[in-house]
Amino acid sequence: MDAESTLVRVDLNDAFADRIGEAGGLRPDEWEESLRAHAGVPDEVRSEGPGFLGLPHDREALEAVLRAAAGARGRFDDVVVVGIGGSALGALALRTALCHPYHDLLPSPRRRGCRLHVADNVDPARLAGLLEVLDPARTLFNVVTKSGSTAETVANYLVIRAHLEHRLGAAARAHLLFTTDPRLGDLRALAEAEGIASLPVPPGVGGRFSVLSAVGLFPAALAGVDVAAVLDGARACDGTLRDSAPGRDPALALALALHLLDVRRGRRIHVLMPYSEALRDVADWFRQLWAESLGKRLDVDGREVFRGPTPVRALGTTDQHSQVQLYVEGPPDKAVVFVAVDRHPGDRRIPALHADRASMACLAGRGLAELLEAERRGTRAALAAAGRPSLALHLPEVAPRPVGALLYLLECATAYAGRLYRVDPYDQPGVEAGKRAAHALMGRAGLEALRAELAAHDAARDPRRVY
Ligand code: PA5
Repeated sequence: MDAESTLVRVDLNDAFADRIGEAGGLRPDEWEESLRAHAGVPDEVRSEGPGFLGLPHDREALEAVLRAAAGARGRFDDVVVVGIGGSALGALALRTALCHPYHDLLPSPRRRGCRLHVADNVDPARLAGLLEVLDPARTLFNVVTKSGSTAETVANYLVIRAHLEHRLGAAARAHLLFTTDPRLGDLRALAEAEGIASLPVPPGVGGRFSVLSAVGLFPAALAGVDVAAVLDGARACDGTLRDSAPGRDPALALALALHLLDVRRGRRIHVLMPYSEALRDVADWFRQLWAESLGKRLDVDGREVFRGPTPVRALGTTDQHSQVQLYVEGPPDKAVVFVAVDRHPGDRRIPALHADRASMACLAGRGLAELLEAERRGTRAALAAAGRPSLALHLPEVAPRPVGALLYLLECATAYAGRLYRVDPYDQPGVEAGKRAAHALMGRAGLEALRAELAAHDAARDPRRVY
């Protein structure tokens, strides 16, 4: 395996007992035994054929995204993703990772692409504020919903559609692009009936596994991200995983280490902590992926098991001054996954000023990136000294190929973890239950019985318990 194709390295050293002690660390013999027992997991996942595995290879889908983005470029200054959960988090992760850190503030033409906004919540003030600041004549609304019926997305779309028609009249439709199921759902039906531009969410690809489809790629492309290179990185990662010797698959190493730390060492909380502001929203995206895929009441045999680790997102170094005290000295229930980046653009030498001050003299002439990495290593050392396990993902830089590889590796690790926890990582019955209840409360036809049940539950509230 050559170094170039290994765009993401997974380092498990600080999860082992010889470095952090037996209370929190894995013993080499139990690791080897588990690895042997589960070496077949990647092949088992591949043989199930989940849709997300094909996305890095789907050139037709990429071309459709690039065509749609080329058609929109120049016509719009702003793109708004109207979608929630898996329909929004991937686009944000790509934008924050791969656009200028102050992308939205850059004047055109230095800003290579549209400003990107997300309308996910149905918070009235937020949507009203967004519509107030945007020029509808220069804005594209990309409505993203696989089901075509999520209440928040549909409601935001309806408000936006009325706003567009009021401001632009018959031109409103040219300011909409739907990303939805290729055949099913209300949004698909509307796209066809009204000739609204659309892109498909490929069948078999659930929201949280859809970042490398049109769901994440189209808005990212419009914001100026080189999405072909993102997919290229994901493909390279796919090659690395497929070519790995048995038991050497890095996504399996990550999934297995986190699973063992959870079930054998009680590390039920998994913290993803990038030391790069650009990867902040990748951590947010992963939080949903890990939580919604693994948090399940039933196992694959239909037994009630209430399984699933709790993911937490953190950011280095910022959360060293917020969360790390808890991670080092609080309950021993966490495993921290650092994300370290070798090269940071725009690195600066720290000027040699005030050389007579000890706290400043030691920084003089060193790089900010060097300090960032020293802070990460310091935190890792503090965790290790306290017997707390940590893992590290290493990226050469935050660029389209490594980021594509990272997203794909985390998706594979999640699918593998589904097998290790023995749950279905692709369904979300808990989310669906909430969606149905909200629809019932809003009076959707066919849900009358559920509505009555919810009303009875509410009526039975004891007012004395309200303080
Ligand atoms: O990952 C998932 O499946 C969910 O988070 C969905 O993306 C989210 O509920 C939105 O669903 P939809 O895309 O159908 O509007």
